[in-house]
Amino acid sequence: MTSSHPRACVIGWPVGHSRSPLIHKYWLKQHNIEGDYVQQNIAPANLADFMRDFTQNGFIGANITVPHKQAVLNLLDETDDLARRLGAVNTVYVRSSRLFGTNTDGEGFLNHLKQTIAGWRSQGAVVVLGAGGAARAIIGALLDDGVEQIHVVNRTLAHAEEIAALFGQRCHPMPWRHMADAFPNAGLLVNATSLGMHNQPPLQIDLDRLGTDAVVADIVYVPLATDLLKTASTNGLAIVDGLGMLLHQAVPGFQSWFGVRPEITPELHELIVRDLDEN
Ligand code: ATR
Repeated sequence: MTSSHPRACVIGWPVGHSRSPLIHKYWLKQHNIEGDYVQQNIAPANLADFMRDFTQNGFIGANITVPHKQAVLNLLDETDDLARRLGAVNTVYVRSSRLFGTNTDGEGFLNHLKQTIAGWRSQGAVVVLGAGGAARAIIGALLDDGVEQIHVVNRTLAHAEEIAALFGQRCHPMPWRHMADAFPNAGLLVNATSLGMHNQPPLQIDLDRLGTDAVVADIVYVPLATDLLKTASTNGLAIVDGLGMLLHQAVPGFQSWFGVRPEITPELHELIVRDLDEN
């Protein structure tokens, strides 16, 4: 492959765990596009240099992952309102040699939710567990979609209060130990913490006070069937897994870099599930 082929990358530290190359290489092949998508393991101290030389090194775009989502914000020529509001960028694209940053995490979550639960519309309040970057993106997307009330439940209440200050009166900070008080009126419960993930502490939660129509979503996708989702299923509740958010957040990036809006096919889903199982 020559260097004239469009090339995108995922930038992280470490970046080896990222499934983004699998996703984008699948789409490149599916659409017969002569391009490439590679991993870039970039230490925080080297991020500014990397972004300065980005286009010179032949890149047309990037996904940004942990721990660079905040830091990259100030290394780009332009960012959109959403990225600035969230204080985080997950997708970079190049236009006329200028670097633009946006954030597709929230859109990814919402699109996956609406695809999994056909015709999903917010009914009642939403309970979001967590107040980190992922929670912010999800809360922003839900508010933009018209959700009227979000209880932001977090171990460190001050972080939930920061979110309420950022997004306004529709967000209600709530201490972790009181979360179940918000359950009876909740139409959607989202785990946006790392609890329940492989090698992380479990998410200990009692879902009994959730209504029978509530939907339970998890952003954790290793394992795909988290204890939270298993319990919700056992209780007869509809569930939304975390892998879909990863797949859906990738769609707008691929489209802006390679000019084709890709599909999340069952085959792609299966490819990622198999890779997660094996590694
Ligand atoms: P990300 O950007 O992926 O969302 P993050 O910014 O580190 O990651 O946020 C992680 C979230 O998981 C936070 O809401 C964190 O709670 P704190 O704000 O109190 O740190 C939450 N979290 C992580 N470990 C936790 C634990 N053991 N118990 C409860 N919440 C936890």
